[in-house]
Amino acid sequence: MAALGELMAGTAHEINTPLGAIQASIWNIHRSLERSLTQLPVVLEQLSPELWAEFQLLLSWAQATQEPESSREERQLRRQICQSLADLGVAEAADLAPSLSQMGLTQSLEPVQQLLLSPQAAFAIETIYNIAAIHSNSHNIQVAAERANRIVAALKGYARRGDTDHKIRASIAAGIDTALTLYHNQIKHDIELTKHYEAVPEILCYPEELLQVWSNLVGNALQAMRGKGSLAIAVSQTTTDLAVSITDSGPGISLEDQQKIFTPFFTTKPSGEGCGLGLSIVSKILDKHNGRIELQSEPGKTEFRVFLPLDRPGEHPSQVPPPSA
Ligand SMILES: Nc1ncnc2c1ncn2[C@@H]1O[C@H](COP(=O)(O)OP(=O)(O)OP(=O)(O)O)[C@@H](O)[C@H]1O
Ligand SMILES: [Mg+2]
Repeated sequence: MAALGELMAGTAHEINTPLGAIQASIWNIHRSLERSLTQLPVVLEQLSPELWAEFQLLLSWAQATQEPESSREERQLRRQICQSLADLGVAEAADLAPSLSQMGLTQSLEPVQQLLLSPQAAFAIETIYNIAAIHSNSHNIQVAAERANRIVAALKGYARRGDTDHKIRASIAAGIDTALTLYHNQIKHDIELTKHYEAVPEILCYPEELLQVWSNLVGNALQAMRGKGSLAIAVSQTTTDLAVSITDSGPGISLEDQQKIFTPFFTTKPSGEGCGLGLSIVSKILDKHNGRIELQSEPGKTEFRVFLPLDRPGEHPSQVPPPSA
C-alpha cells in the first residue's frame, strides 16, 4: 500500500508541475496579448513605412530566438547589446538593452538601426517584446503538455499490463525508466544520474509489481540524499540472473539498521514521511519472482542489488500479453 501510495503521490506531483507551467504560461499570454493589442495600433500609426519594415524584421528575429537559459547568460548578452547599441549611436542604450537581451537577440542590430535611433524605439521594442512573449509562452505550453503526456503514457503502459495475474515477458530497463520518469522532477536539479544498461533479455515477470520495487528503491535513495548527490543505476546479467544495481551517495545505513530495514514498519523517517513499508513490500515482490536483494552500505555509498532469475529455456508466459493499443 505504501508503495502504491508513494507511486500515486509521485505521479500527482509529476503531473502537477507541467500543469503549473501551463497555467502560468496561459496567464502570461493573456497579459501580453492584451498589451500588444493596445500597443500595435499606436505603433502602426507612428512608424513610417521604413521604420515599420525594420519593426517587422526585429519582430521576426524575436520570434525565432529562445529566451536566454540562465540569468547569467542574459546579463552577459545585455552587456553585449548595450555596447552595440552605444556603437550605433543610440543614446538610451542602457534602457533599451534589457528588453532586447530578454528576447535572446544575438544578431547584429545594424539592419534595424533607424528604428533604434528613432523616438519610438522604446515603445516599439516593448510591443515586440509582448508579441514575442505570446510565442515563447505557447512554446512552453507545448513542452509542458508533451511532458504530462509522457507521464500518462508511461502509467498507461503499466496499467494495461496490470490487468493480468500471470507473468508476462517484459523489459526490466523499461520498468526502471518508468520509475525514473515518475521521479524526474526530484532528479533533474541536483541529482547526477548515471545509467549503465547492458543489453539483457526480457524476462517473465509481473511488470507492475516490479515498478513498485524500482520506485521504492529510487525513492529511498532520493530521500536519503535529501535532493543532492549522485544516483547510479546499472542493469547487467550473470549466468543465471538479471542484476539491477541502484547506488546512491547518501549517508548510508548503519550495520545495526541493516538488520532491520526489511522488517515491516521499520523506519528512521519522521512520521508522515515514511511508514517503513517500502522495503518489506520490495522483498515480498522479489520473493514472488524467486529473486533476491543484497545491500552494501557505507557513508557516501549505498548500493541495493536486485537479482531476478533469467527465463529458463522453454519457459513460456502463461498468458499472451494483450496487444498494445
Ligand atoms: N538508500 C538508502 N539510504 C539510507 N537509508 C535507507 C535507504 N533505503 C532505505 N533506508 C533505510 O531503511 C528504512 C526503511 O526503508 P523503507 O523503504 O522500508 O521505509 P521508509 O522509506 O522509511 O518508508 P516508506 O517506504 O513506507 O515510505 C528507511 O527508513 C531508511 O532508514
Ligand atoms: Mg521507502
